Formats: sequence, structure tokens, C-alpha cells
Amino acid sequence: MRQPLFGLLLFSLLGSSLLLGEDKKPPSRLVIQTTAGDVNYDHAGHAKREMNACLICHPRLFTRDRKAPIEFSSPHKKREDAKASCGACHRADGAAFASEGNCTNNKCHVKGS
Ligand code: HEC
Ligand code: HEC
Repeated sequence: MRQPLFGLLLFSLLGSSLLLGEDKKPPSRLVIQTTAGDVNYDHAGHAKREMNACLICHPRLFTRDRKAPIEFSSPHKKREDAKASCGACHRADGAAFASEGNCTNNKCHVKGS
């Protein structure tokens, strides 16, 4: 009786940690490459601002995989209106600045990179 239960417990622990990507370390910074120039995404800063409440972004907005598409490609306005991806916060009346007017003023896209 005990062994199947133990197996189930082991599976659920390992299985869920793999599914949630808990084997991976949270990145300190991510460089998102785009045709308009790289975006330096301060993951540590973003997590800290949200008081390390990872659930605010994972998995609803972002899967937890640096190779996964961010899905915030232009026109950003469309994604901002949908409150999706980065636009969940970065939009007019959102918790953070909207993309409009902030393309290259050292906030998002770094020119020449
Ligand atoms: C403000 C949003 C936000 C918050 C809060 C956040 N993350 Fe992330 N995280 C991202 C984004 C964006 C990515 C990259 C794209 C993706 O995962 O789809 C990412 C990727 C990751 C990855 C994948 C790294 C890799 O090498 O593939 C891990 C692990 C991760 N985050 C862990 C965490 C943990 C742990 C917390 C809480 C302490 C956290 N994140 C909070 C936005 C966030
Ligand atoms: C949970 C809300 C939230 C999400 C989601 C989010 N941000 Fe932010 N972001 C903020 C806040 C809050 C600030 C700081 C306030 C401000 O400057 O308006 C900020 C600031 C920034 C900055 C300025 C530098 C810094 O880190 O202070 C950049 C660049 C940035 N975010 C990019 C992104 C990108 C790219 C995404 C999507 C991958 C994203 N953010 C998703 C809340 C968020």
C-alpha cells in the first residue's frame, strides 16, 4: 500500500517542479532581441518591485522560459489594449509607462545594439 503512494508523491513533487520550471534560477537580466534594438529587461528589478510575487507574471503572462516568445511585438498598442504580456502593466493608466514615446529614450530599445 505504501509504495504506490510514495511513488505518486515523488512523481507529483518532481513532476510539478519540472512543469513549473522550478529547476531554473530566476534570471537577473534578460536581453530581448528585436529588430528595433535590444531591450534590456531587468528581471530582478521587476520581481523585487512586485515583492517577489512571481505569480503576478508566471505563468499567466510569461511561461518561465527565456526562449519563449514575449508576444509584445509591435504594434504594442494592440497588446496594451488587451492588457497582455508587458502591456499588462505597461500601458496608459497601467502600473508602468506605456510604450508610446518611450521607444529609445534609454527605457526600452537600445539603439545600435
Ligand atoms: C514583471 C513580470 C515578472 C515577474 C514578477 C517575475 N518574472 Fe520571471 N520572467 C519574466 C519574463 C518576461 C521572463 C522571460 C519570458 C518568459 O518566461 O516567457 C521570465 C523568465 C523567468 C524564468 C526563466 C529563465 C530561463 O532561463 O529560461 C524563470 C526561472 C523565472 N522567470 C523565475 C521567476 C521567479 C522565481 C519570480 C519571482 C521571484 C519571477 N520570475 C517573477 C517576467 C517576470
Ligand atoms: C507586473 C507589472 C509589469 C510587467 C508585466 C512588466 N513591467 Fe516593466 N516595469 C514595471 C514597473 C512598475 C516599472 C517601473 C515604473 C515605471 O518606470 O513606470 C517598470 C519598468 C520597466 C523598464 C524601465 C527600467 C526598469 O526596469 O526600471 C523597462 C525597460 C521595462 N519595465 C520593460 C518591460 C518589459 C520589456 C516587459 C515585458 C517583458 C515588462 N516591463 C513587463 C512593471 C511591469
